[in-house]
Amino acid sequence: MATTAPTGSPLSQPSLTHPPPPRKVTTVKALSESPGLSSIPSIYTFPKQTYHEPVSDTKEPIPTIDFSLLTSSHPGQRSKTIRELGKACRNWGFFMVTNHGVPERMMKAIIEVSREFFELPEEEKRGIGGKHVLDPIRFGTSFNESVDEILCWRDYVKIFQHPEFHSPKKPPSFREIALEYSKRVRLVAREIIRGISESLGLEKDYIDETLNLENGLQLIAANLYPPCPRPELAMGLPPHSDHGLLTLLIQNQIGGLQVQHKGKWVNIDPIPNSFLANIGDHIEILSNGKYKSVLHRAVVNNRDERISIAVPHGPALDAIVSPASKLVENVGNPPAYGAMKYKEYLELQQGTMLNGKSCLERIRNGD
Ligand code: OGA
Ligand code: NI
Repeated sequence: MATTAPTGSPLSQPSLTHPPPPRKVTTVKALSESPGLSSIPSIYTFPKQTYHEPVSDTKEPIPTIDFSLLTSSHPGQRSKTIRELGKACRNWGFFMVTNHGVPERMMKAIIEVSREFFELPEEEKRGIGGKHVLDPIRFGTSFNESVDEILCWRDYVKIFQHPEFHSPKKPPSFREIALEYSKRVRLVAREIIRGISESLGLEKDYIDETLNLENGLQLIAANLYPPCPRPELAMGLPPHSDHGLLTLLIQNQIGGLQVQHKGKWVNIDPIPNSFLANIGDHIEILSNGKYKSVLHRAVVNNRDERISIAVPHGPALDAIVSPASKLVENVGNPPAYGAMKYKEYLELQQGTMLNGKSCLERIRNGD
């Protein structure tokens, strides 16, 4: 039987039957605006090794995929681009997408209206949406503020765009801008996913059809990283991989994203008017590990407010994801991951403390 210190003593532990009341966590925006803030509360301080990990000085550029060639009617151009896409997925898991056809004004508008959203009064933002991963609108801070032991220097709002469209009521223009942006970005993402399917030696529409992308989940995740007086102690987002198939990210021209490549962190500098794409855990599962969903993180700085808009695209919530049959057994690769409903994966991930790729590791077979 467990022993407990007598209640009331300085050693008393929170009892299991009476969990401590939920922490009241302020937003990073409110915190960063506290007058005269020159340090950060200890709950935002990450262990030293986190920020002392080497940052790569590689000159190797992150791959670029010219979207207009992916959709080219010229078969030679298309197949060459598909080979490049496959190589980018195998070697980096991240790539820039240029000539995607989404107008620059839409990219600017979604960043601007997200900034306006974060400027709403605190009580108004706090009253928005729910807390569960399947709630269509979620506003919060850190990664998962109720389980994080160390808080991240980030506020966020995540809004389901598809198969059902949702929008906060304020700012009033959010709805129209988000609707237009998410529609255009979804077209780009589905086309890239078709290319990824082909690059794996599968039918062009294999992923689209097997995972029911007509009803695929799409979110807008707007991230706010306010200036931080001690950026070397804090983390905007600690290392994680993304759930789903493909995330397309833009930012307000302030750097901060780092990608794990050949064992080091590589700074990714924003290229104006292009998307930064990365493959998610469910491409890793579907490809039976041929393509890895790569760890990335966001660091912060002490000068500029950074905003990023990540748009993850996933299977339909009820779709069951498993390694593609063509990529297992008959080619001597037993399935490396168990089958799981996308929705259940999301719930599993939300209940898991942010800890590298722990969530994907939980469904990996044989280790
Ligand atoms: C994310 C993410 C990185 C960034 O939202 O999953 O990785 O640069 N964001 O904001
Ligand atoms: Ni991410």
